[in-house]
This record gives sequence, C-alpha cells and structure tokens, in this order.
Amino acid sequence: MEVPSVSAPAHIGIIMDGNGRWATKRNLRRTRGHREGIEAAKRVVLEAIRQEVSVLSLYAFSTENWRRAEEEVSFIMALVARNLRDQYDFYRDNRVRVRHSGDLERLPPAVRKEITAVTTETADLEAITVNIAVNYGGRDEIVRAVNRWIDSGDRSGDEEAACTEDAIREHLDQPEFPYPDLIIRTGGEKRISNFMLWECAYAELYFSDTLWPDWSDVDLRNAIEDFRARKRNYGGMR
Ligand code: IPE
Ligand code: IPE
Ligand code: MG
Repeated sequence: MEVPSVSAPAHIGIIMDGNGRWATKRNLRRTRGHREGIEAAKRVVLEAIRQEVSVLSLYAFSTENWRRAEEEVSFIMALVARNLRDQYDFYRDNRVRVRHSGDLERLPPAVRKEITAVTTETADLEAITVNIAVNYGGRDEIVRAVNRWIDSGDRSGDEEAACTEDAIREHLDQPEFPYPDLIIRTGGEKRISNFMLWECAYAELYFSDTLWPDWSDVDLRNAIEDFRARKRNYGGMR
C-alpha cells in the first residue's frame, strides 16, 4: 500500500515562552529561567537538525519586551550577546547558520555587534538556519518592510506605483526564507504576541503547556508528528 507522503515542516517558528514561570515555581529569579532557556534552545536545535528542518526561527525578545523591569531587560541583552559569542563551537560542530530577524538599530551596540559577527561567521554553515528574533515585532517588521520598499529603487520613476504583497515579501527581514509551516508556542498561553504576523498567514499553530526551559527533543518530535497529521487547505476545497 502506498503511504501518503506528508512533507516535513521546512520552517518552524517557536515562541519560547515560560522562562519566568519556570524559575518562579522553583523560587529562583526569573533571570535563571532565561539562562535555562538557552539550554532548551540548544536541545531543540539539535533535534530540528535530525528532523531535517531547514529554518528554525526562535522568538527571544519582542519589541514589547522592553516594557519589562530594566534589570530583566539588561540581563536578557547581556545573555544574548554573551551566548552568541560563546556558542561558536556549537554552531561550527553542528553546522548551524545563524540569522537575525528584528530591528537591529534599536538594540544595544554590544548585541548588534555580536549579531553581525555571528551571522557573518556562520554564513556558510548548512545543516540548519537558526533565525533568532531579537527586538522583533511582526507589526514593526511590516512597517520596516514597507519603508524599505519606499526607499528602494524599485519604485523609482513611478511615484504612483502601488505596494503589493510581493513588494512587502521581498523587503521582509529574511525574504528568502519560506514562510513558517508550523508555529509553536510553549508555556500555555494561546496567542501570537506579535510574532511573524505577515508570515503566519497559513502556518499551522501548535500550543504546548510545557514551559520553555523544560522543552526537549521529544516535545519537538511530538509537535512535528502533530503537524504531519494536519490537512492544509490554503483556502481551497477539501
Ligand atoms: C519568554 O519567557 C522569554 C521572553 C519573553 C524574553 P517569559 O519571560 O515571558 O516567561 P513567563 O511567560 O513570564 O513565564
Ligand atoms: C512572547 O512572550 C515573546 C517571546 C517569547 C520572546 P511574552 O511573554 O512577551 O508574551 P505575552 O506578553 O505573554 O503576550
Ligand atoms: Mg511570557
């Protein structure tokens, strides 16, 4: 009997939520939860490679997360900068190409510098692309895409040219990535929280109650298995 072939998700996005609650439950500081979150991210990246995922987008810090206590924000910024720098062996050993989505310009210079360095250093690694979303907001990305289109030569000579879906797509932060097939949110909340608003139009959504620091390879396999059983319709007929 022929087994129907269900394609694996080429691009998975993860809203890595629940770090603070993971720590608070253990009477630890919230910042400890963020540190543990890095370990979970490494476990999940390794499993995504085994599952032959091409792009894994990890939502690490939103354009709204600046509203948090200054102590937590600066801890997260330092953690991001330090980890980008300290994980070079991990990237090289596992052939991980790092990319970034979000507004670089509003990030502290140290973080900006590490993001630029790591994306350049890992550009030729080919097992998986890990796209870290730092100072990322879906609305912000769309606005920046439209402004980039306005500033681009694409409209020159034609002041009246109307914006199109293709024009926006071409000016997104990572225009060559396929749109995410699967968006996972950990930590129990069932919302998008400004993640990949343009790109999520036909993504399958998967919500897990497990807090992000507790996520492991098994959780990612379960999410992918669930995805494979879905029937995607794209507005067509069944
Ligand atoms: C997600 O975990 C990480 C970031 C948003 C930076 P949270 O810090 O939101 O953890 P909870 O939701 O408070 O448990
Ligand atoms: C979403 O989590 C952002 C990230 C995981 C980086 P939040 O914890 O910021 O989302 P809300 O505030 O609960 O919607
Ligand atoms: Mg949260």
